[in-house]
Amino acid sequence: MALTKDDIISLPNPHLRQRSKKVGYITEDIRHIAEDMISATLNWDASRNHEVGVALAAIQIDQPLRIIVVRNDYENKKDQTFTVFINPEITKKEGELKEDFEGCLSVPDIYGKVKRYQKVRVKALDLEGKPFRVTAEGFLARIFQHEVDHLNGSVFIDHIKDDEDAFFRLNEDGKLKAIDYEEVKQDPVLWE
Ligand code: NI
Repeated sequence: MALTKDDIISLPNPHLRQRSKKVGYITEDIRHIAEDMISATLNWDASRNHEVGVALAAIQIDQPLRIIVVRNDYENKKDQTFTVFINPEITKKEGELKEDFEGCLSVPDIYGKVKRYQKVRVKALDLEGKPFRVTAEGFLARIFQHEVDHLNGSVFIDHIKDDEDAFFRLNEDGKLKAIDYEEVKQDPVLWE
């Protein structure tokens, strides 16, 4: 049975702060996990009016393995195709750090202004075990940094935990509203 949004774990689940293991052999089980990640992301995507499910790391469906899936056209909710990256590594970070909003399927309704490199190079294996490389700029570069963080047990809010002006909440009308920092700091869901 295909996984759904209800199979996506969210904070304060401590698994989100654990380091994922490298994939050894790419078996049928690994391909199955990648399919599950895509179906869970698309099911989440269908339930959200103002957001697009752009990527997911395996730990977000509680599989501590170094696998990420990235949507091929994350500006288009109609495009439902993804690329699978096994054991992805960022081999180079370039350009200036730029602050922009990002969210996470495992941190519902919270957005943060996070500084990320503008350009990254990534190497990974495809589902056949063949190595490939991509160069990503702008928002796509941000996505890779966010997802590789997940594999290392880091969530985007960890980057901004001391930043009083970085936290926002997505309202029902699709607008982001700043959250009072005292409220953020005391939220047991975020920091447990
Ligand atoms: Ni995330």
